[in-house]
Amino acid sequence: MIRSTCGIFKANDGRSTRGSAVSPANREDGAVERVQAIRGMNDILPDAVHWWQLVEKTAREVLELYGYREIRTPVVEKLELFARSIGESTDIVEKEMYAFPDRKGQWLALRPEATASVVRAFIEHNLQADPLARKFYTIGPMFRHERPQKGRYRQFHQIDAEVFGIDDPMLDAEVMVMLCHFLERIGLEGVGLHINSLGCPACRPSFREELKKFLHDRAAHLCPDCDRRRHVNPLRVFDCKVDRCREALVGAPQLVDHLCGACARHFEKVRGYLTGLDVPFTVDPRMVRGLDYYMRTAFEVVTDRLGAQNAVGGGGRYDGLMRDLGGPDLPGIGFAIGIERLILLLQQGQSLAAKTPDVFLAILGEQAAIEGFRVVQALRRRGIAVEVGYGGGSLKSQMRRADKLGVSHVAILGEEELQKGVIVLRNMAEKSQREVPLADMTGVLGAVIPLARDGRRQ
Ligand code: HAM
Repeated sequence: MIRSTCGIFKANDGRSTRGSAVSPANREDGAVERVQAIRGMNDILPDAVHWWQLVEKTAREVLELYGYREIRTPVVEKLELFARSIGESTDIVEKEMYAFPDRKGQWLALRPEATASVVRAFIEHNLQADPLARKFYTIGPMFRHERPQKGRYRQFHQIDAEVFGIDDPMLDAEVMVMLCHFLERIGLEGVGLHINSLGCPACRPSFREELKKFLHDRAAHLCPDCDRRRHVNPLRVFDCKVDRCREALVGAPQLVDHLCGACARHFEKVRGYLTGLDVPFTVDPRMVRGLDYYMRTAFEVVTDRLGAQNAVGGGGRYDGLMRDLGGPDLPGIGFAIGIERLILLLQQGQSLAAKTPDVFLAILGEQAAIEGFRVVQALRRRGIAVEVGYGGGSLKSQMRRADKLGVSHVAILGEEELQKGVIVLRNMAEKSQREVPLADMTGVLGAVIPLARDGRRQ
């Protein structure tokens, strides 16, 4: 078997063989091989998922407050979409895409980001005609074949926001303010907002030439990647993390000093709006972002608590992108937050109580099981989360399980209770119990459970 360049396994006769890419399940010693997840692609286990739910819920609330509406696009798109938008000579397109031909030979890619897809969808569905369709958000997985480490994965998730058709600098500030509002609401502290202006097609070319000249004089000090980049896409050199390239860039020309009048005024206004709202920010003339579609405002939210992965989120203005993808000439701006990085930071500061059931129903005997099953369903319909002692067992073992689950109340139903038409209700915190008529059970728990939930939250 050989491996084709695109990663599809082919038999030596050239046929693609899915079967041959499957390793034998049984080893010679008889043990069964486990199938593991792909490196850099993580399971999100139930113990962590409540963080995700909190982040996603808070994001939706804040985004909708600012008028954003949700859009969902496919995770697979034509490769061309990303090559044309993110830029052929970016790391993402050059090295990090999961790209493969489909059965008809068309090149596809797992999306490495969401902006290009949202712009494509806007154009494809002619959303320009819809007055409500200006601000969009999407939440979901993205894929980049990077070297996995803390905060850097091959499947990761973004909360992505995009706005089309507005070139007012107030919007640039509003987008950043919204990002800060969200981070504040979710309780993230100790991050900084870095901003820059990347100029426009009128002022960037002359800056590029000046930067090329500067890099030409320092070519001997650059890493091989940057030595190549300085010809094809010199701005990318600012992204390089290699120490000697960083040193070689000391004294490099800065984009903010080469802005045309219109870009300089735009940037000044953006800073003015941020200052007007007392939003602290740092102008970072080295920040160029890793995607080519940006112009004018670019920004990142950075932290020093995630090692090398210092960006929690980032974005900027991309006024030419929609036109370049064959759509109307509408300006655009947006950002994305990396959910994994955000949650790593949130977890450093606080713990979040796992969701537990409210009530455990201990069942003793077959007749009690039939009645108990009915009671459980009635409680769940009242919005009370119930776990059941499936399969019965001794009261002691069922109580042990209830204790481990951390419920506030245990309801006990045995043959004796059934004959009396009652159920025993035990308050686990107070270690007290009482008999409640079966007919009143849902009403009684409906009253005590909200109080118990409040108590556990405090
Ligand atoms: P980006 O800076 O490439 O921008 O990604 C945004 C965020 O996604 C990063 O700040 C980081 O938190 C997270 N992220 C990126 N790569 C990884 C990874 N390998 N593992 C974990 N997290 C990662 C964009 O994607 C643009 N589309 C943002 C945008 C929207 N610009 C305008 N509109």
